[in-house]
Amino acid sequence: MEYSQVISRRRMVRDYTDEPISASCVERVLASALRAPSAGFSQGWAFLALTEQEDRARFWQIASTQTEHSPGMRNAPLIVVSLSHKDAYLDRYAEADKGWEDRAESRWPAPYWDIDTGMATLLMLLTAVDEGLGACFFGLMPDELSPFRAAFAIPAGYLPIGATTVGHRGANVPPQSERVAQRRRSIDEVVHRGSWGD
Ligand SMILES: Cc1cc2nc3c(=O)[nH]c(=O)nc-3n(C[C@H](O)[C@H](O)[C@H](O)COP(=O)(O)O)c2cc1C
Repeated sequence: MEYSQVISRRRMVRDYTDEPISASCVERVLASALRAPSAGFSQGWAFLALTEQEDRARFWQIASTQTEHSPGMRNAPLIVVSLSHKDAYLDRYAEADKGWEDRAESRWPAPYWDIDTGMATLLMLLTAVDEGLGACFFGLMPDELSPFRAAFAIPAGYLPIGATTVGHRGANVPPQSERVAQRRRSIDEVVHRGSWGD
């Protein structure tokens, strides 16, 4: 698929068939995340991949909010939870070539650990499109975080920034919603050329 098609076709898909996806396809989706950029090449991310039926069922028991309006999400044969690891950045930037030995978070203009994990997740979304599949990124609710951590033995220091479902598009995937098309902001609204304002 052409890169421009991958970009234009990307959208969130919340309904899947129960058709499996091949193990090699799962690996391509996961491996694409590792090509993401990261500040100082810290790579402070981790991914929990759930392909077994019983693991996915355990996940949906916890992340039930997401499926209230989209029951077809549960059919997805792959769920990847993206986790950001702040300490990897503080450790990396305390090294001699960066020199932030105090590990102060105030030095950071934005939480790059979450940003980079988001970039890695976007690559998985795009790879799913390139594979002819659908995918959806969604957040876990605050009250779902502790049960999720406990159920999947997530180490302290790793923050689940959200989860991505991947699978074959179901019959109930609506056309790209009019609302999304209408609400997509125009380039002139969001791009400020040369300076912001007069
Ligand atoms: C950080 C983030 C969190 C999101 N959380 C959810 C979510 O909890 N549930 C959901 O159905 N979609 C979620 N989405 C998907 C957005 O609703 C979707 O990207 C947006 O409506 C634009 O639609 P499109 O991606 O299909 O173009 C999230 C997207 C992002 C980037």
